Amino acid sequence: MKILGIETSCDETAAAVVEDGTVILSNVISSQVEIHSRYGGIVPEVASRQHMLSIIPIVEQALSDARVKPKDLSAIAVTNGPGLAGSLLVGVNMAKALAMSWNLPFIGVNHLEAHIYANWLGEDIPAFPVIPLIVSGGHTELVLLKGHGEIIRLGRTRDDAAGEAFDKVARALGLGYPGGPAIERACRGITATHRLPRAWIKGSDDFSFSGLKTAAVRLAEELNISNSANPGPIALGLAASFQEAVVDVLVNKTIAAASNYCVKQILLAGGVAANRLLRETMASRSTIPVLIPAPVLCTDNAAMVASCGYFHRLKGERSGWDLDVVPGLKLGAANPNAEIQNV
Ligand code: KG4
Ligand code: ZN
Repeated sequence: MKILGIETSCDETAAAVVEDGTVILSNVISSQVEIHSRYGGIVPEVASRQHMLSIIPIVEQALSDARVKPKDLSAIAVTNGPGLAGSLLVGVNMAKALAMSWNLPFIGVNHLEAHIYANWLGEDIPAFPVIPLIVSGGHTELVLLKGHGEIIRLGRTRDDAAGEAFDKVARALGLGYPGGPAIERACRGITATHRLPRAWIKGSDDFSFSGLKTAAVRLAEELNISNSANPGPIALGLAASFQEAVVDVLVNKTIAAASNYCVKQILLAGGVAANRLLRETMASRSTIPVLIPAPVLCTDNAAMVASCGYFHRLKGERSGWDLDVVPGLKLGAANPNAEIQNV
C-alpha cells in the first residue's frame, strides 16, 4: 500500500510517498526557515502564503522521486492539526482536491501522533508497549502506546515546550533562530558553566521548562550578554548549561516512566529529538532499548504523516469531505471534525 503524505502544519511544506507504513520511497521537504529567521520567529500569514507557493511543486516532486503515478497510490494522508490554521488549510485542501480528482480515500492525521511514526521508518520497527517522548516547538508529551491508536497521555509540559524554551533562550543569548539547532551548534565542545534549576515535579510525569528558561534569560541579562552577532564564551557556557538541564530532565523523567510502565522500548520524536546531546544521553542512561529516528525524520516531514495514515487505513479508517483543520487538536483525542468512516 503506497500512501502520499502531506504536511503543512507549521513552516515546512512537505510531501512523501511511503510503502506499507515503513519504507520511504520519497521524502521532500521545503523549509521556510530563512524567510522567518528575519523576523526571529514564525509569521503565520507568511507561512501560509509560502505553503501556497510550494505545495504543488513539492507534491509533484514527491511523486516523481518515488517513481509513482497517482494510480499506484492507495490513499492520501494529511496533517489536519495541531498547527497554524492558515498553514493547515493549504495541506488539507490540497489533499482533498487530489483525493477527489484521483478518486482516492484520504485521511486526516494528528501531527503529534505522526511524529511518533517516524520511528517506524528506520531499520528497527518498534515493539509494543512503548513510551514515546514527543519534544517539538509547541509540545512536550510523554505517552504510553500499547498498540496502534492505543494512546495514553502520561505527562505534558505545564508551560513552555522544550523546543520553545530552546528558541527563547537562543534569542536571549543572541544565537539566532531556530534556537534548538543554533544552541546545539554553538555549544559543541563547550562545558556547562552554570547550575540551572530543573523542575522534577515529583510524583507526576508532567514537565515544566519556564523556570529554567527564565533563569537562563535573567542570567543572560545580569551577565550583560548582548544580542551581538558573535556571542562570547560566557554566552556559550550558559547555552551549554541550559541544554544540559533540558536534556537531564527529559531523559531522567522518560526513563523513570518507562521502568514504571514496564515498556519494551523508549521512542524519541519531534524536532528537539534531533538534538545530539539528548540522543546520546538517552541512549547511554537507559537500560531499556531506545529508538531514535534519523534527525531529518525528527523535524517536520511528510513521511511520518504517510506512515501514521497507513496504520489508520489498515483499520479501515478514512475521513469525510467535511474534514476541517483543528489547530488545537490534542494527542489521543478523537478527531472532532473528521468523519471517520469504515470502508
Ligand atoms: O517538530 P518540529 O520540527 O516542529 C514542531 O512541530 O514544532 O520542532 C521544531 C522545534 C523548534 O523549537 C526547534 O528549535 C527544535 O525543534 N529543534 C531542536 C533541534 N532541531 C530542532 N532543538 C534542539 N536541538 C536540535 N538539534
Ligand atoms: Zn512537528
